[in-house]
Amino acid sequence: MKFRKCKGLKGQVTVPGDKSISHRSVMFGSLANGTTEIHNFLQGTDCLSTIACFRSMGVEIENRGQVVTVRGNGLRGLKKPEHMLDCNNSGTTIRLISGILAGQHFASSLTGDSSIQKRPMKRILNPLSQMGAQIRSIKGNGCAPLEILGGPLQGIHYHSPVASAQVKSAILLAGLYAGGETKVTEPYVSRDHTERMLSCFGADVRTEGATAFIRPARELYGQKILVPGDISSAAFFLAAGLILPGSEILVRNVGVNPTRDGFLHVCRNMGANLTLLNEDHGSSEPTADILVKSSPLHGTVISGAIIPTLIDELPILAAMACFADGETVIRDAQELKVKESNRIAVMVQNLKAMGAQVEETGDGMVIQGGKPLHGAQIDSNGDHRIAMTFAVAGSAAEGETEILGAECVKISYPGFYEDWGRLAR
Ligand code: S3P
Repeated sequence: MKFRKCKGLKGQVTVPGDKSISHRSVMFGSLANGTTEIHNFLQGTDCLSTIACFRSMGVEIENRGQVVTVRGNGLRGLKKPEHMLDCNNSGTTIRLISGILAGQHFASSLTGDSSIQKRPMKRILNPLSQMGAQIRSIKGNGCAPLEILGGPLQGIHYHSPVASAQVKSAILLAGLYAGGETKVTEPYVSRDHTERMLSCFGADVRTEGATAFIRPARELYGQKILVPGDISSAAFFLAAGLILPGSEILVRNVGVNPTRDGFLHVCRNMGANLTLLNEDHGSSEPTADILVKSSPLHGTVISGAIIPTLIDELPILAAMACFADGETVIRDAQELKVKESNRIAVMVQNLKAMGAQVEETGDGMVIQGGKPLHGAQIDSNGDHRIAMTFAVAGSAAEGETEILGAECVKISYPGFYEDWGRLAR
């Protein structure tokens, strides 16, 4: 896929449904009694992997595109899968399902693609073992494939060394099956979609600061779910609208949950002309339309508690920083090394190929902005967020940028290039 400098982005776009919320709606719907109807479900390959896994455990799931209907089997109604569950590229699928399988009275195993098989799983193996599950890395390297024999679980208070919603959610889901209360304390608050949605399904879950609590559930109840647009997908259009001169972009119906909206705060800190319209706080996940106009940006520091609230937006923020005046420092972001690719190394290498002044640090990077970028050949490393980041950077750089492995955007945004083509001038 090739990109050339474009004159700007104009118009409106509705990005697809939120990936994190789509996964959870299928998982919790499968564990509920009754029917769960999911509107605006993300048809990205990660979420389709979640559907496939629950179908393999005997759940009837009808996928009619925009609407997905899950006929739940109840908390104790999942069937032993006949084969190893394949989570493909999806970290959310493998980690959250592990928490659910820890509470089942059958043995199962889970795997995924070559990227998933390199991602750290000890972060869930440790707490789930402490709760009483027999769970192990089959190759003994702390990664997938995993084997799980669930059993009687006990509630624990887990102090997670990382702020990770995937870890927190795996433990909370196991906590549905545990004796007594389960608590997870994180160094910083991570996205809270699990807590919000489980509460709607009837679970006894609450939060206090950076600790989430859950009590075992007798039953969950099927729900109607409206999945908001994914702020992590919206970020690419918002970034492009800010850095490409002459742009004005309205992204409609975006989820603006405060544990996910760090990108908007950083944009404002960098001087962005960004407005939230039609804010709706009426349902469990708040939404808004977001309007941006091209803006002169300046560098900033991104570190500490805000990091988990924009973890997936750091690649596009790093690219934006190249078009901002002055220095941008990203710190406390070592989690980027264990995403779909090592996003620190991959970003630094690809931005350097475009002529950016950027240095890798142990937990982030330092970018000297304000110097023009030139086109280059970019390897996405099969990482959807890297591919979309360089579609934006390539459209703001001189000359031509070629993205290798560009089709990986189907993981979170199957229609990205079509939407981009409609808006780019
Ligand atoms: C996700 C949590 C984040 C995020 C991922 C989706 C989730 O990972 O990077 O894309 O749905 O819970 P961590 O919680 O491991 O940081």
